[in-house]
Amino acid sequence: MSAIERMFMVIGDPIAHSLSPVLHRAAYAAFSLDAWYGASRVRACDLPDAVRGLRALSIAGCNVTIPHKEAILPLLDDLTDRARAVGAVNTVTLRDGRLIGDTTDGEGWLRSYRDEGAPSLAGQTVVLLGAGGAARSILYTLLTQDAACARIFIINRDRVRAERLCAAFAHLAHGTVLAACALDELRASEIDVIINTTSVGMEGELAGACPIAPDFFRAHHFVSDIVYRPAQTVFLSEAKRRRAHTHGGLGMLVYQGALAFEMWFGVKPPVDRMMAVAREALQ
Ligand code: ATR
Repeated sequence: MSAIERMFMVIGDPIAHSLSPVLHRAAYAAFSLDAWYGASRVRACDLPDAVRGLRALSIAGCNVTIPHKEAILPLLDDLTDRARAVGAVNTVTLRDGRLIGDTTDGEGWLRSYRDEGAPSLAGQTVVLLGAGGAARSILYTLLTQDAACARIFIINRDRVRAERLCAAFAHLAHGTVLAACALDELRASEIDVIINTTSVGMEGELAGACPIAPDFFRAHHFVSDIVYRPAQTVFLSEAKRRRAHTHGGLGMLVYQGALAFEMWFGVKPPVDRMMAVAREALQ
């Protein structure tokens, strides 16, 4: 048996349920690529050794997931501008012996949003629920893509964190109004897009919970959840009940992987195939 030409992997903790191997292997199979994609559980205390291992083993690319997306930054040789701005890395590429960190999460959300036939974000008023790492990635993308939003309101359980996030990204806002607020300071009629970036509604302790009062939803809202397990969160089902357009988190997951693939192989992967295997794996 000949050696595999290029090796890739995902690291995180826990990692057993990661869909990344399934997504990437489906793309390799579709293109008959001589590549391998594995998953490795890496404890937080072992991250520096794991990163040294990536270099030593010439791993061509690596995806990074919870809880390492921020902790890995100082361990890499360089970062793209967006990874530096977001303060998180989900994709590492080995280039000339140097490990370069990037983040495709925000762009992954945007591709999936556009794929859904969603309205252009130009002039839209967006409510972003959450102020953690996922919120940072999506906010960076919202502020740097070409269709400038009119307003972006950040709502977070810890309001100070939302205020800090607004302050950190103020230099990217240009004409967009960016502010931290509470739901009762907003009029539902003036909102176009609502995005949940919190873990509320996810399988586990927070399953069945909704990050905002469901009676806020209106039929004209475009409601997006980055949670993909379960596919139908209470946030989305309550929005749907009020005839809002809903958008689940699986597309973001698939596109963040597709963007990593494109970075590594220089060609667009078969996103439909990746989406199909991800759906299948979740059943
Ligand atoms: P990630 O990198 O996945 O975004 P994170 O940085 O830990 O993870 O952020 C999690 C987000 O979900 C935060 O906005 C968090 O709110 P706080 O900043 O107030 O902690 C939000 N979140 C988590 N559990 C929540 C809960 N039970 N109710 C409301 N918000 C919650």
